[in-house]
Amino acid sequence: MWAALRLALRPCNRTFVPGPRAYHGDSVATLGTQPDSGSAIYQENYEQMKALVNQLRERAQKIRLGGNEKARELHKSRGKLLARERVDNLIDPGSPFLELSQFAGYQLYVNEEVPAGGIITGIGRVSGVECVIVANDATVKGGTYYPVTVKKHLRAQEIAMQNRLPCIYLVDSGGANLPRQAEIFPDRDHFGRIFYNQAIMSSQNIAQIAVVMGSCTAGGAYVPAMADENIIVRKQGTIFLAGPPLVKAATGEEVSAEDLGGADLHCRKSGVSDYYALDDHHALHLTRVIVRNQNYQKKLDVTVEPSEDPLFPADELYGIVGTNLKRPFDIREGAHFIQICCQRNIPLLFLQNITGFMVGREYEAEGIAKDGAKMVAAVACAKVPKITIIIGGSYGAGNYGMCGRAYSPRFLYLWPNARISVMGGEQAANVLATVAKDQRAREGKKFSSADEAALKEPIIKRFEEEGDPYYSSARLWDDGIIDPVDTRLVLGLSLSAALNAPIPKTDFGILRM
Ligand code: COA
Repeated sequence: MWAALRLALRPCNRTFVPGPRAYHGDSVATLGTQPDSGSAIYQENYEQMKALVNQLRERAQKIRLGGNEKARELHKSRGKLLARERVDNLIDPGSPFLELSQFAGYQLYVNEEVPAGGIITGIGRVSGVECVIVANDATVKGGTYYPVTVKKHLRAQEIAMQNRLPCIYLVDSGGANLPRQAEIFPDRDHFGRIFYNQAIMSSQNIAQIAVVMGSCTAGGAYVPAMADENIIVRKQGTIFLAGPPLVKAATGEEVSAEDLGGADLHCRKSGVSDYYALDDHHALHLTRVIVRNQNYQKKLDVTVEPSEDPLFPADELYGIVGTNLKRPFDIREGAHFIQICCQRNIPLLFLQNITGFMVGREYEAEGIAKDGAKMVAAVACAKVPKITIIIGGSYGAGNYGMCGRAYSPRFLYLWPNARISVMGGEQAANVLATVAKDQRAREGKKFSSADEAALKEPIIKRFEEEGDPYYSSARLWDDGIIDPVDTRLVLGLSLSAALNAPIPKTDFGILRM
């Protein structure tokens, strides 16, 4: 995601005195203590986090290329812009594009790379309006929809619905990835849901704009057909329910793609399309005009004050946090009372680094279960925009109480040192070893330390693999992995997007006191 953000973070060159930190020049309020940047721990943390950030950049760089070179060259030889170039040319010059789920599909399918899940999604400003942009990447298997492509498209639409953002679909897709049809076609949250969402959003006056820049085959034809307004590019865009090979097989009729569903047919005859574009650039220009004509006004439910630059260099975060999740650090921001926030329309930010709730007889007797439930219920019911960033561990019920994916934060991001699982690998291995030991004891059998080690090793390995941030992002359990240094910027853009929707009143259910 970092690479997509065009705003440069300004370096901070103030000097600091040791001791409590003044917060934004206010000598009364303090925030944490000055980190000792010369300490061995700071240095070690810094190096380790920097290595993860470098890895993040390298991987993102590769993904940003899209499909293989042959596919890219073929695409360009047809006079088309690449998917990311289309996005770049669509958004307001110099404005940032908050790209989402860049690692969707990462190492997800055996022997098949699907860079960015074959589809680019994110929030960008078009004619001054924040819009959700969904762009098929035709260099990845003809832009066809893998299961992860469908999931990513639906997630982008969910973001548009929750935050009331107009949707712009830059369509260039062969529709369903046929060998995977069973995983993308029949179920509720499969391909058909895309068009369902379009209909629902249109009914809610959330603009649906499609730009046909390549194929829109079969189900894909409904993306422009269901849009409020659509544009089609001459001798490049096609819309049909069945392509020429299928038509020939079904009826024997021989017809070219252009005659079957090109711009001339749809703009002059069928009425499926509204605007005729000469090429990609013209189509993107028309899209900007359509957004301008929406007569859209962002109405804020909250007061917004000018932002202040951070007092401290953002990369201090590397040295403070590091990658060793067993090493605690001082975190003073983020937490506030949920009810107060809901009453005052204050968005909630969750910075997750949590091993779960306390366990043991003492805590159970004190009612940790009901205390945890109160927190979970409050987080679930809170209707103010919630944004979650996992900056360390996210384990067990701690994930729930701190607004994990199941609690519908508007956006959820990970730092590259994040870990997500029901519990740590060692704890899981210990639990299962204890269960196995007890079973054997009941059966009068032995459970040697070698048996225990053999049982634990694959479980620890599996948790390690499945708790990895890239494992999460590949499966759309989050909205992207970000460089800690970009956190402020990503948060600012996400909050700004969230404020497009009115903030509903929160009603809490019954909390066990
Ligand atoms: N499912 C799975 N793979 C598909 C596919 C589909 N529906 N359509 C195309 N592909 C693959 C091709 O096999 C090829 O794979 P390869 O690079 O590993 O060889 C790659 O996508 C590109 O296809 P190609 O035909 O070479 O590229 P193109 O740019 O000339 O045409 C399409 C792309 C999508 C327009 C064209 O392939 C097509 O019409 N496909 C059929 C679409 C269809 O009928 N879909 C059914 C939807 S229900």
